Amino acid sequence: MKIEGFERIARIDEVTPACPKRVMVGECEVVLFRVEDEIFAVENLCSHQQFSVFHQGVLDGYTITCPMHTWSFDIRSGKAVTGSGRIKTFELRVVGNEVLIKNSVDEQKFSGF
Ligand code: FES
Repeated sequence: MKIEGFERIARIDEVTPACPKRVMVGECEVVLFRVEDEIFAVENLCSHQQFSVFHQGVLDGYTITCPMHTWSFDIRSGKAVTGSGRIKTFELRVVGNEVLIKNSVDEQKFSGF
């Protein structure tokens, strides 16, 4: 199924609580996290020193902790929980078994900053 303005990036069963999934959306690396039945997407780019390692971070509830220097962020809002700044989050839709991301990623990336 297609939804205007969104593109398919994964199957929902490819994202488990124990195993986040990295996907490229255009030039942007995105990490998908699953918390119970919900999927969340963040840019894989820490606001501290721009390491792309959230896929190797520790997820506790809705908080992802960067493995480099332990800054942490809420994957729903992107706001820092510890440290400072904000990481980019993306709007998703789940349709059946498919995860769709709003396809204007570059536009989303720079909005709100
Ligand atoms: S690069 Fe993520 S906490 Fe330093």
